[in-house]
Amino acid sequence: MSTTNSVVILLRDNNFHSGEELAELLGISRAAVWKAIHSLRKKGLDIHSVRGKGYRLPRKMELLDKTLILKNIPPALRDKFQIQSHFELSSTNDFLLKYIKQDFNDISQVCLTEHQTHGRGRRGRAWYSPFGSNLYLSFTWRHKQSPQAVPGFSLVTALALAKSLELLGINNVGLKWPNDVLWNRKKLAGILLELNGEAHGDQILVIGIGVNVDMPENSEESINQPYTDISKASGKLISRNLLAAEILTQVAKYFHMYESEGMSSMIQEWQSHDAYFNEVVELTFPNQTIKGKVAGIDEHGSLLLDLKDGRRRTFQSGEISLRAH
Ligand code: BTN
Repeated sequence: MSTTNSVVILLRDNNFHSGEELAELLGISRAAVWKAIHSLRKKGLDIHSVRGKGYRLPRKMELLDKTLILKNIPPALRDKFQIQSHFELSSTNDFLLKYIKQDFNDISQVCLTEHQTHGRGRRGRAWYSPFGSNLYLSFTWRHKQSPQAVPGFSLVTALALAKSLELLGINNVGLKWPNDVLWNRKKLAGILLELNGEAHGDQILVIGIGVNVDMPENSEESINQPYTDISKASGKLISRNLLAAEILTQVAKYFHMYESEGMSSMIQEWQSHDAYFNEVVELTFPNQTIKGKVAGIDEHGSLLLDLKDGRRRTFQSGEISLRAH
């Protein structure tokens, strides 16, 4: 294990640890301890230091723990997932996109990490991924039906995510088509759906979920859109392991429901969470902008927009950006 990771493990109890103590416990020099602290801060971990006392995290830290995640998934769904967690990856989506080329079966491969060096968002944006404070989770899904159903998985994932957050006590979760999860109109979680080609005619999806759990202070310097996190939305700190378990549980339920019944049974649920329902919004395309009033989604998960001239148009999810007008 790297020195930086060993330092996190010692610091996670929220007590003060002097440089000397850390150096002795890890059998390294104090300069090496300082280097590790510096590198962790650069990865976004908030480490306080007090002269004469040492280093301390602002609060206790529960590291990702795949055993705990699995234990909190209902037994009937547990064997549908194979989980791995890492201290650092470039991106959990990238990891699975590479990994499942060599090894993939019907079980959903789940990958989590404490920190992403190149977290990716939609439309080529970066996804800020500070160490240990949020959830960065990706999973594979083998879809055996029509490729036309693939874009709908974005919306279904957003619904599963909203349900998980509600079950953990977060109220007023909103959705923005196609798959932003909001609270108070600020971004709480994002979803990145990518295709990793086909295997024997099945679509292999890689779905990445980033949930803002407890953003470090000063994160606004690194994020160029209004955002919030679970600790602000609920006033409490929640376990990332329990959150991951709930998300995977709901994903399994919603995905099976979608594959057996389609989107129709979820239209109402979407509408009740739609943060922009009945509001005038702008859809931005590479070379034009369309304005209209949001009228919900159809059975394919397409957006329904009522234009000023009375026409109703549908838009498939893709590289469209929806903005409040
Ligand atoms: C968005 O722009 O709203 C989508 C954000 C998706 C972020 C998650 S974090 C886990 C996974 N790995 C990535 O690099 N991106 C997704």
